[in-house]
Amino acid sequence: MAHEVNGVVAAAKGGPVKLVPILVPDPGPGEALIRVKACGVCHTDLHYREGAINDDFPFLLGHEASGTVESVGNGVTNVAPGDFVIIAWRAPCGTCRSCLRGTPWYCFSSRNASQPMTLADGTPLSPALGIGAFAELTLVDAGQAIKVSPDASPEVAGLVGCGIMAGIGAAMHTGNVGRGDSVAVFGCGGVGNAAIAGARLAGAHTIIGVDLDDRKLAWAKEFGATHTINATSTDPVEEIRKLTGGNGVNVAIEAVGSPITYEQAFYARDHAGTVVLVGVPSPDMKIELPLLEVFGRGGSLKSSWYGDCLPSRDFPMLIDLYLQGRLDLDRFVSETIGIGDVEEAFHKMERGEVLRSVVVF
Ligand SMILES: NC(=O)c1ccc[n+]([C@@H]2O[C@H](COP(=O)([O-])OP(=O)(O)OC[C@H]3O[C@@H](n4cnc5c(N)ncnc54)[C@H](O)[C@@H]3O)[C@@H](O)[C@H]2O)c1
Ligand SMILES: [Zn+2]
Ligand SMILES: [Zn+2]
Repeated sequence: MAHEVNGVVAAAKGGPVKLVPILVPDPGPGEALIRVKACGVCHTDLHYREGAINDDFPFLLGHEASGTVESVGNGVTNVAPGDFVIIAWRAPCGTCRSCLRGTPWYCFSSRNASQPMTLADGTPLSPALGIGAFAELTLVDAGQAIKVSPDASPEVAGLVGCGIMAGIGAAMHTGNVGRGDSVAVFGCGGVGNAAIAGARLAGAHTIIGVDLDDRKLAWAKEFGATHTINATSTDPVEEIRKLTGGNGVNVAIEAVGSPITYEQAFYARDHAGTVVLVGVPSPDMKIELPLLEVFGRGGSLKSSWYGDCLPSRDFPMLIDLYLQGRLDLDRFVSETIGIGDVEEAFHKMERGEVLRSVVVF
């Protein structure tokens, strides 16, 4: 039986999103039906709406979600009805070449529900990042449902499912930030500020937040930035060099998704340092770098997909650190909104007014 609920759908490139009836099937083998409790509005949802990810419209948006398991299909053992879960957009398959090499965070065949959710007329929906959680119910592969402590608020838990994990993981896993390191983060939105929180958790000594908006920089300080730079008035590369004894940082994290900030991150890094690209570029973007600089500076240029996380390991850990008071995640929730308010939340994000608007059900 399919359940009719309301979902936030992007029907065509660049058009406003609409709340429309959708059909969500009961779970088949290996699937879990989730009653969504909260779902954050991430910049990646906006990228989908803009057609910057791919052209598989219509999209069912929303992918930073927590909820309770409503029902499970045959063969599901990792979760049961009533469990409080965070939905992950990575569910390692266990059998692809990367999983077999022991690096499941690069899984090339991550699992999603096999049955489609559809519009009322049967048109299949493309769920954002294989989730689609701006809806009262969503269907996922059971491996995407990660059980965590129900003591965490649904809003915070949902954000761990994407932006917080992507940022913290970019610092801790991809950038391998360690005790005493210097770190610069370009773009202090939800993801960048999570990278700052991750750098602090990992023991970084100097943490420099760069943004164009003073509000974002004020929040960056609350998350652990020791210094901030407003790049509209100050050259961030020069300033970062000044703050690091003329050398640059050990780890430079780009959390915007732009060639300008990527280049700044490249030049703001010390010799043998690491650049981490976590911002998602659009298909038309290009960079040009002197190859001699790429060679001569050594170190590594890395991308971070989902903070190189393993959800089954990392989500419960982050929630426990939060519940122990060692990681303040409440500050990422700028406001809670209704499911009909996602389009307005995109505009607030564009105007820089929020770190995260979170839809609560
Ligand atoms: N790699 C991943 O796994 C992953 C996961 C989630 C999100 N993302 C991506 O991360 C990026 C950030 O996401 P978000 O939700 O934090 O977005 P956001 O809009 O909340 O934050 C972006 C920030 O960048 C700042 N900015 C823009 N241009 C700048 C410039 N030239 N210099 C300095 N700062 C600048 C903005 O003021 C804003 O504060 C997006 O591209 C998003 O798609 C990647
Ligand atoms: Zn996201
Ligand atoms: Zn795999």
